[in-house]
Amino acid sequence: MRRCGIGEGICRLLIALAKDSGANSIVLYAQLTAEALYTRLGFQREGDVFTEAGIEHVRMTRQI
Ligand SMILES: CC(C)(COP(=O)(O)OP(=O)(O)OC[C@H]1O[C@@H](n2cnc3c(N)ncnc32)[C@H](O)[C@@H]1OP(=O)(O)O)[C@@H](O)C(=O)NCCC(=O)NCCS
Repeated sequence: MRRCGIGEGICRLLIALAKDSGANSIVLYAQLTAEALYTRLGFQREGDVFTEAGIEHVRMTRQI
């Protein structure tokens, strides 16, 4: 069921929940292959690529 829009829908729901809870920013560690998804959702890359659990990641943030 990947690449059917489910991940984007879940992220949009989580962003709305974060907003309702009074958060003013979100931080995530994205697997490099998923960076485009989070960019589309308004996240921006911060810093260099790093390896976690053997997988390349990048820190991304989004203001709410
Ligand atoms: C990343 C993940 C959560 C996305 O969920 P999903 O339901 O497939 O997401 P959507 O269908 O809403 O969006 C897919 C988008 O994610 C990105 N993407 C996800 N997996 C990708 C891959 N293997 N290669 C390239 N782009 C990918 C693309 O931008 C894609 O958009 P596109 O189909 O228009 O090119 C899911 O594929 C997954 O769990 N992947 C394996 C683990 C992982 O990468 N987790 C991320 C941890 S930060």
